[in-house]
Amino acid sequence: MTEPQPARRGRIALTGAAGSLARDIIPHLRRCGYELVCLDQAEPADPMGCEWVIGSIHDADRLREAFAGCAAVVHLAGIPLEASWEEISRTNIDGTQAVLEAARAADVPKAVLASSIHATGYTPVPAEGDLLPDDVPVRPNTFYGVSKAAVEALGSLYADRHGLDVVCLRIASRFARPENERMLSTWLSPADAGRLFEAALSEAAKGFRIVWGVSRNTRGYLSPDGGRAIGFFPEDDAEAYAGELPADAAGAAQGSEWDRRCIGGVFSSPEPPMFSPRA
Ligand SMILES: NC(=O)c1ccc[n+]([C@@H]2O[C@H](COP(=O)([O-])OP(=O)(O)OC[C@H]3O[C@@H](n4cnc5c(N)ncnc54)[C@H](O)[C@@H]3O)[C@@H](O)[C@H]2O)c1
Repeated sequence: MTEPQPARRGRIALTGAAGSLARDIIPHLRRCGYELVCLDQAEPADPMGCEWVIGSIHDADRLREAFAGCAAVVHLAGIPLEASWEEISRTNIDGTQAVLEAARAADVPKAVLASSIHATGYTPVPAEGDLLPDDVPVRPNTFYGVSKAAVEALGSLYADRHGLDVVCLRIASRFARPENERMLSTWLSPADAGRLFEAALSEAAKGFRIVWGVSRNTRGYLSPDGGRAIGFFPEDDAEAYAGELPADAAGAAQGSEWDRRCIGGVFSSPEPPMFSPRA
């Protein structure tokens, strides 16, 4: 007996496909029936049954090759933490503009962009029971956060000027499991990350949208409304791990001052975690 195959759903290009978030979502999107063409400047540890284009998002020829005939581009390539302005602006801002321009030139009708909670990381933690809307105004806490605000602004430009459907996902804390008290509110589980990108690629996600990427956490303060509107129904709750926060997070488990003050937590401190490239 052969396994039943999912209905074919078209060809999708994925940038930053050798990274850790991509490793969560590639198997899910393949199970949904998408054919994936993966682009990264690094060789993947595991090709996961996909076609690969090895090259930079700054290389227009590689982008053209990867995007030909695609129904959407999922853009994940970037520096995922704080770094110098030169590195951040080159990779995250110039790189996103290059990706959107290549998508437009290849007549790709949709882009799903990886934004971040840090685009608005200085937003105060709301009072208990209050929810922050998906499009709460930008209030970046780092150069990284500024770059994600620029990613959203570029997405808005390409939606309005060129008619692309653009979904900006404000991903909160995508970890295997919550690692501190803040993540009991901001955790995005790996399985929910797959569901999030599936919804962003669906027909329901038209026009320009900003959507929180977060699980259905009991202590959550990020609104589920934008997600529901595109068919994102997360299933995981960080509360299941509340009694198991790592012992070395004992201090953090009490909640750092920054975690209580701003939704970006320690990223909003004067010494945010810095990016160190893989060897
Ligand atoms: N992981 C999270 O919790 C989280 C939260 C918010 C936003 N994001 C965003 O999601 C995206 C993916 O994050 P991640 O955690 O997988 O990071 P990651 O560092 O594991 O993956 C990023 C990938 O992008 C690739 N890349 C970098 N520069 C490139 C270039 N010039 N050309 C081609 N490829 C390039 C890297 O080789 C790497 O494989 C990032 O944009 C990040 O800012 C992640």
